Amino acid sequence: MFLKNTWYVAAWDHEITHELQQIVVLGQKICVYRTTGGGLVALEDACPHRKVPLSKGRIKGDTVECGYHGLTFDCAGRCV
Ligand code: FES
Repeated sequence: MFLKNTWYVAAWDHEITHELQQIVVLGQKICVYRTTGGGLVALEDACPHRKVPLSKGRIKGDTVECGYHGLTFDCAGRCV
């Protein structure tokens, strides 16, 4: 059981790069990466289509392309 609605450390700054990676925080799988401008992105690591981990997809610019059917999501998780 975890306290919700509070801050937790997820990673060191240098650990988040322009590569997709999965981290687990409070038992939740999160796909994290850094944009081309250096911003941080954290999305639920589950494609809304079939729940395939987005961290297994690939980065296209600042978006994430799901590795299964190719739906693409922006930094806010919107399908674009
Ligand atoms: S499972 Fe991601 S696009 Fe279908």
